[in-house]
Amino acid sequence: MTTSRIAHPGLAAKVMSAQDAAGLIEPGSTVGMSGFTGSGYPKAVPLALAERIETAHAAGQPFRVKVWTGASTGPELDGALAKSDGVEFRLPYNSDPIAREKINRGEMEYFDMHLSQVAPMAWQGFLGPLDTAVVEIAGIRADGSLIPSSSVGNNKTWLDRASKIILEVNRWQNPALEGMHDIYYGTALPPNRVPIPLVRPDDRIGEAWFRVDPSKVVAVVETDAPDRNLPFAAPDASALAIAGHLLEFFAHEVRMGRLPASLLPLQSGVGNIANAVLTGLVDAPFENMTAYTEVIQDGMLDLLAAGKLRMASATAFSLSPEAAAGLNADMASFRDKMILRPQEISNHPELIRRLGCIAMNGLIEADIYGAVNSTHVMGSRIQNGIGGSGDFARNAYVSIFMTPSTAKGGKISAIVPQVSHVDHINQDVQVIVTEQGLADLRGLSPKQRARVIIDNCAHPDFRPALEDYFQRAQLGAYGRQTPTLPGEALSWHQRFMETGDMRG
Ligand code: COA
Repeated sequence: MTTSRIAHPGLAAKVMSAQDAAGLIEPGSTVGMSGFTGSGYPKAVPLALAERIETAHAAGQPFRVKVWTGASTGPELDGALAKSDGVEFRLPYNSDPIAREKINRGEMEYFDMHLSQVAPMAWQGFLGPLDTAVVEIAGIRADGSLIPSSSVGNNKTWLDRASKIILEVNRWQNPALEGMHDIYYGTALPPNRVPIPLVRPDDRIGEAWFRVDPSKVVAVVETDAPDRNLPFAAPDASALAIAGHLLEFFAHEVRMGRLPASLLPLQSGVGNIANAVLTGLVDAPFENMTAYTEVIQDGMLDLLAAGKLRMASATAFSLSPEAAAGLNADMASFRDKMILRPQEISNHPELIRRLGCIAMNGLIEADIYGAVNSTHVMGSRIQNGIGGSGDFARNAYVSIFMTPSTAKGGKISAIVPQVSHVDHINQDVQVIVTEQGLADLRGLSPKQRARVIIDNCAHPDFRPALEDYFQRAQLGAYGRQTPTLPGEALSWHQRFMETGDMRG
């Protein structure tokens, strides 16, 4: 018997409980789950799987799985599975606090990778076989094709590659989502790759639905739970100052003729500062803007609603609960202004370079020469992962990183003599912004970069010590291209780990 969300009789006949579906996942197997920054992740089967794992562990039986996703998910997936100690390996991005603790305790292996590379690597066979896909969708059409939900991520690849498929049909997702997605089926492996025919952010090059082989579908589970995202904090003085410096920079670039008046397609990273910048753009003098980005945040919806942003292309929503509910209630009016694509397309280096995106991402620390650490605290402890920041930073028209100049109540400087972990080499970092100011590093040598980063971005509490380090490093006789004192470069981090304060 079909329902309004499951129009294919063969698949309607496979409806079962989440518990029964979770029972089809084998210990030790690899599971490709949907989900990207808190949207479109399966909400029932992972919870049932976590319960099953806990029962197995209580009976003394080992039960762990390898989990692949699009990016971060929600507490019902990453949180529940990590809590059950059910994950032996995870890729490609995590922001769940319980999973983070497991990873940092060395109890879970984590492959933190560029988000654009997950699907190609899965196809190339580098990641091993994919046993089961668990994918949330908004509905099943009569011909068996699937209506994607609030994130696309790697779902196309999981559906294509997995030996068996479990679908979660979520009635909470608005049926008006249908038609918003653009699923491109033209990717291939070398030597058969061809150019991706997308030349404008609003180009549609694919189909609105996922293809699936119904014979691979072993279970269909019906759910009605909302996506769970964290609210954004109201922008504080630091975020507002960063947004102000950046908007001034954009206006300057337009005056210099280096950016058009409508800017270039915006990419905005995760977090509160990125959202504050988008909010700042609502009152800025730029019109007819576009976004070619990874996630659509609250600030982007505001820009769309204000008519400042013409359209936004992404792979997922990353909305506060209020914005998600608002969008869900008004999906029809937003649908034509947004396109959700597979993450290998939203983050594709070829497309980012062609479109000339303005990349804006957060960082944990940057060094005086402009190398950026986006992922690790004190060199060893993972915070989230590189996400799409590397896809965008290397290929952008202009690559911008932003951060408050200090962390942990002023005890940590975000500008350090040398980063404790490198995600973005200095060649991929063109602008750094803190609440103190903006450093435009384009065309500068390492010593020239150090000058503007220390003067414009460092907090006054740390500026003299950075200046002192830089002066002494330049006296070294070994080489003066990128002056470094190897024995001292990470001493600030060492001091923090020993005393809880980087300040001497
Ligand atoms: N040293 C130690 N801890 C630091 C730090 C530093 N230099 N800078 C930040 N932190 C800590 C903060 O104190 C905070 O800790 P808490 O959770 O215990 O409060 C945590 O890191 C997050 O920092 P926050 O200031 O809330 O930053 P954010 O939300 O703007 O996120 C990143 C910053 C770098 C973590 C985030 O942008 C990220 O994960 N980036 C990588 C992925 C990415 O760029 N994706 C977008 C591509 S599309």
